[in-house]
Amino acid sequence: MVIIVVLFLISTYLITFNLAKMSDPYIKEVLSLQGNVSRGYEIFQINCAACHGQFADGIVGPSLEDVSHRKSRISLIEQVISGKTPPMPKFQPDPQAMADLLVYLENLSKN
Ligand code: HEC
Repeated sequence: MVIIVVLFLISTYLITFNLAKMSDPYIKEVLSLQGNVSRGYEIFQINCAACHGQFADGIVGPSLEDVSHRKSRISLIEQVISGKTPPMPKFQPDPQAMADLLVYLENLSKN
């Protein structure tokens, strides 16, 4: 019984938490935009490749191959803008640049 209550509380928390993120105006705007993969690639080369490698195959930062299978679109945006996992810095791309980065990251998945 206790376990059921705990599970219920955890799932309610997760749902509310994700809904709160969904209503974040920045994330909402990014998700509403059409990203451009080649612009995303350029943005990645300038800001991310030093750590994640020219082909996102990993140097200081981990390889990002198939990262969109491990993380949701919201988590990917959070990863870039939050600065919660040092040494990865906090980035503040404008929503279009973030949308471009997002499709670039999603394109790193082979299938
Ligand atoms: C200073 C080095 C550095 C830079 C610059 C950097 N990262 Fe990272 N990144 C990291 C490190 C280190 C981690 C692992 C963090 C952890 O989970 O502890 C990481 C993790 C990630 C992850 C999560 C990987 C996973 O498997 O869950 C994503 C996605 C990511 N970075 C994307 C980016 C993008 C996009 C940029 C450019 C806007 C960027 N990073 C710039 C160092 C960097």
